[in-house]
Amino acid sequence: MNKIRIAILASGTGSNAEALMKKAQSLNSVEVTFVLSDKAGAGVLEKAQNLSVRHFVVAKQNDRREHEQRVLNLLREYRIDWVFLAGYMRLLSPEFLQTFSAWHRGSSQVVNIHPSLLPAYPGVDSIRRAYEDRVNESGVTLHLVDEGMDTGPHLMQSRLTLEAGESLADWSVRFHKLEHQTYTQFLELMALGQIPTSPFEET
Ligand code: GRF
Repeated sequence: MNKIRIAILASGTGSNAEALMKKAQSLNSVEVTFVLSDKAGAGVLEKAQNLSVRHFVVAKQNDRREHEQRVLNLLREYRIDWVFLAGYMRLLSPEFLQTFSAWHRGSSQVVNIHPSLLPAYPGVDSIRRAYEDRVNESGVTLHLVDEGMDTGPHLMQSRLTLEAGESLADWSVRFHKLEHQTYTQFLELMALGQIPTSPFEET
């Protein structure tokens, strides 16, 4: 059976990407085919290099359409089945998403992880904003990606309480651990065939 081929798109440190790459390397039926960053020098590239995972930079440029076309060219060249966003600091256009889903019989196969119980705290600085609001609990959401900012349908949510006296730094560490657990659990479910997947098919 062919492995499910995953591309990870990330702009930053890449701790989620690293957790996914490591988990994929322990599973037979999925692979991280490449990591792509829009930032040269992003930490995620070094992590991919250390794990011998193919990696590309498609640098940010003003023309969004051209940038997305270059990303799509790679997704097509490598016959990618799923795109996992992991701290990718760009919104994807409806045209991008439509093109990608057309290669998968119309299925949405782009996911993102976000550190809040969406729809609460979309966008940047979610952990800090929830902390400053002294919420009792927050969590992480794994969701399908649409053209909005953290607005697509939810696939998984995991909860995290805020302990009395806990610092923002400590809470953030627990958040990132929970993100890694949630994202790698999703990957395991995919490897077990429990996440319906339409393989890449050029149209
Ligand atoms: C994570 O908190 C992710 O949820 C958010 O951006 C952050 C990326 O962190 N979208 P990392 O690069 O995976 O360490």
